[in-house]
Amino acid sequence: MRLKPPGRLTTSDYPRVMALWQAAGLHIRPTGRDSQEAFARQMAGGLQTVIGVETTSGNLIGVVLATHDGRKGWINRLAVHPSWRRQGVARLLIAAAEDALREQGIEVIAALIEPGNTLSLACFRNSGYEEYIGLHYVSKRSRADS
Ligand SMILES: CC(C)(COP(=O)(O)OP(=O)(O)OC[C@H]1O[C@@H](n2cnc3c(N)ncnc32)[C@H](O)[C@@H]1OP(=O)(O)O)[C@@H](O)C(=O)NCCC(=O)NCCS
Repeated sequence: MRLKPPGRLTTSDYPRVMALWQAAGLHIRPTGRDSQEAFARQMAGGLQTVIGVETTSGNLIGVVLATHDGRKGWINRLAVHPSWRRQGVARLLIAAAEDALREQGIEVIAALIEPGNTLSLACFRNSGYEEYIGLHYVSKRSRADS
C-alpha cells in the first residue's frame, strides 16, 4: 500500500501542514488563525486534533483539523494534495476526525463550506453530512485577517 493509515500530527508538523494547505489551494489565514503561533496555541488548548495521511515514504498528502467547543465538533481545513485526489483520502480523514471527536464525547459534527466549493460539498455529502439550506453564518472578528 502506498499510503499509511491516518495518524495524529503535532505542533512540529506545522510547516508541512501549511505547505500542504497551500498546495491544495485552501483558503487559509496565515497571519491569523492559521499562523504558527495560533496553531501552537490551539494545540496547547487541547481542543484541537490534527490528523494527517502520509505516503509510506513519509510525505504528508492529506490533513484535517478536528476541533470542538465542548458542545459541537467541527471539521476544519480539510485538504488533499492535488496528486492524490479522488482516491478516498478525504473520506478517510473525515472518518478519522469523527472518531477523534466521538472519543471526546462529541455527538454533533459540522463543517462550514465556502460558497462554490462544490468538491468539498460533494465530499461531505458522500460522508453522510446533511446541508442546512438557508442557514446564515455570522461572525465578529478582532482583526480582518484573524
Ligand atoms: C475536497 C477535497 C478535500 C476532496 O479530497 P479527495 O481525497 O479527493 O476526496 P475523496 O476521494 O475522499 O472523495 C470522497 C467523495 O467526495 C466527492 N468528490 C470528491 N472529489 C470530487 C470531484 N472531483 N468530483 C465530484 N465528486 C467529488 C465524491 O462523492 C467522492 O466519493 P467517490 O469518489 O466515491 O465518488 C479535495 O478536493 C481538496 O483538497 N480540495 C481543496 C481544499 C478544500 O476545498 N477543502 C475543503 C474545505 S471545507
